[in-house]
Amino acid sequence: MKLLKDKVMAEGIVLSDQVLKVDSFLNHQMDPVLMKEVGAEFTRRFGDERITKVLTIESSGIAPAIMTSLELGVPMIFARKHKSLTLRDNILVEKVYSFTKKESNEITVSKKFLSSEDRVLIIDDFLANGEAAFGLARIVEQVGASVAGIGIVIEKSFQPGAGLLNKAGYRVESLVRIASLENGAVSFVD
Ligand code: G4P
Repeated sequence: MKLLKDKVMAEGIVLSDQVLKVDSFLNHQMDPVLMKEVGAEFTRRFGDERITKVLTIESSGIAPAIMTSLELGVPMIFARKHKSLTLRDNILVEKVYSFTKKESNEITVSKKFLSSEDRVLIIDDFLANGEAAFGLARIVEQVGASVAGIGIVIEKSFQPGAGLLNKAGYRVESLVRIASLENGAVSFVD
């Protein structure tokens, strides 16, 4: 997606060989016009999949997910990383390990919002090791629903997540794919 590549080149800051900072449009300040285009692009790619729900994880997944769900005309659910005061019973829980933060989080979704009939599109802002996406997929599969696809805004293709998800049989569509962040520079796949 050219618009997104241009934005990464203009505003992305390479913090290390592993980490790209994009807090001016995706992870802190958010660019609504760009997010609208992101939603339209995921809809072009997954529009034929008879999606019934979009699922993401708080917090940075919410903006691309809500714009996608708006385009698709279906509800969006975000998995919570912190225990909610009002969400205690009838919850689906999965453990997600973050290699970046070296900690495990329990992510939760209310059983009320997913059923075995659902075809779920998983959306996330970054794909690194794939732990968040696998955790969300396990939540979907706990209720016997199906994962129709996984849409990623920025894939770091030099990390194993995309390969592992493909190998597990999921359709992964990433809007930009980063081949390397070495020597302080972003290079894209292709
Ligand atoms: P994984 O799910 O693919 O295995 O990724 P990992 O555990 O490594 O990621 C943990 C957090 O770090 C996630 O956000 C993820 O989006 C983010 N992240 C991973 N690589 C990068 C990167 O290169 N740049 C940026 N900016 N973020 C990255 P999170 O902690 O859940 O944050 P948020 O969604 O609450 O903002």
